[in-house]
Amino acid sequence: MMAKDIDWSSLGFGYIKTDYRYTRAWKDGKWDEGGLTDKAEVTISECAGVLQYAQTGFEGLKVYRTKDGHVVAFRPDLNADRLQSTCRRLIMPEISKEDFLKALDELIKANIDYVPPFGSGATLYVRPFIYGSGPVIGVKPAPEYEFRMFCTPVGPYFKGGVKPIKLLLSDYDRAAPHGTGNIKAGLNYAMSIYAGEKAHSLGYNENMYLDSGTRTYVEETGGANFLFVTKDNKVVTPKSDTILPSITRRSLMIVAKDYLGLEVEERPVRFDEVKDFVECGLCGTAAVISPVGLVHTKDGDIKFASGMEEMGPVISKLRETLTGIQMGEIEAPEGWIHRI
Ligand code: PLP
Ligand code: COI
Repeated sequence: MMAKDIDWSSLGFGYIKTDYRYTRAWKDGKWDEGGLTDKAEVTISECAGVLQYAQTGFEGLKVYRTKDGHVVAFRPDLNADRLQSTCRRLIMPEISKEDFLKALDELIKANIDYVPPFGSGATLYVRPFIYGSGPVIGVKPAPEYEFRMFCTPVGPYFKGGVKPIKLLLSDYDRAAPHGTGNIKAGLNYAMSIYAGEKAHSLGYNENMYLDSGTRTYVEETGGANFLFVTKDNKVVTPKSDTILPSITRRSLMIVAKDYLGLEVEERPVRFDEVKDFVECGLCGTAAVISPVGLVHTKDGDIKFASGMEEMGPVISKLRETLTGIQMGEIEAPEGWIHRI
C-alpha cells in the first residue's frame, strides 16, 4: 500500500508493508556495514537457529509526528539497551546503541511518508529484531545472524481503542523463575499464543498471568505490564524478575510522580490485593496505557470501580500526559525524545 492511500483513522494493530527496511548481517564474528533494502522477504537456511530453536529477540517502539511537525522516537536508547540484554541471554551478537539509533534514523527517513499525521490517532510502529540465520542442528548458538528493523503504521492495539478491556486470569504460565520472562525473546510469545487464543475465544482481550513459582503474585499480560491505582490515588506496579521491564511503565511511573504529583510504588503485588484497587491499566508501546474493566477468575469477576464504559481518572490523566509528551505538546524530561 502507498502511504498516500492509507486511511490513518481506521488503522488497527496490523502489518502494512512500507518501502524500506534496514538489514545487517553478522558472519565470521562481525557485523557487516548494513543498510536499507526494499526487499521485505528474507532467505535463510532451512536449519537456521531461529527456525529450529527459536533463537530470536525483538523490540517495539513508536515514531510520532509532533504538533510542530518534527518526527520523533520515544526513548529508543532504552530499546537498544533492552535488545542488548536479550542478545546476551540468547547468545546472539549485540548491536551497539549508536548503530541501533543510526539504523532507526535511516529507516524512518526512508519511510517518512508513513509517519502518520499529528492528531490522526495513528503512529509508526518500529520492529527491530535479531535472529540466528545460520544452520545449527545441535542445540547451540547459530553461526550467523541478521539484524533487521522495519516499520508499519498502526492504530490502537486493542479493538475499540481506549474502551476498558476484559482480562482472563490465566491457568497457564508465561515465564519460569530464572527463565526468560525479563527479556524480549520470541519464544515467550510463541508459548503465550495458545493461552491468548483461549482467552479470545472466551471473550477476553488478554490474560493476566501470575508468578509461576507460587501463583500468588501478579506478573503481567502477554504484551504489557500492569499499573494499578489505589483508593487514595497511589500508583502501584508489580515488581518481578520475570516480567519484561516495560519502557512505557518506567516512563509512566516518572510521569505519575513528577508531572501529576502522585505517590508511586513498585513492589510485589499479591493477586488477592487486586480486588482492592480502583483502576487498572495495561502499559506498553503497543498498548500505551489501556484501561482494564474486569478480571475474570473461576471464583467470579473482579470489577474495577472505574467500570466498563470509560477510563478511570488517574489512568486517563496518565495517558493524556504521556501521549502529550510523546507528541511534543508537553515538555519531556531530558533525553526522552529522539528527533529524527
Ligand atoms: N510486557 C511484555 C510481555 C511486552 O511484550 C511488552 C511490549 O513491549 C511490554 C511489557 C511493554 O514494554 P514497553 O513499554 O517497553 O513496550
Ligand atoms: C510492544 O508493545 O511493542 C510489543 O512488542 C507488544 C507486542 C505484544 C505487540
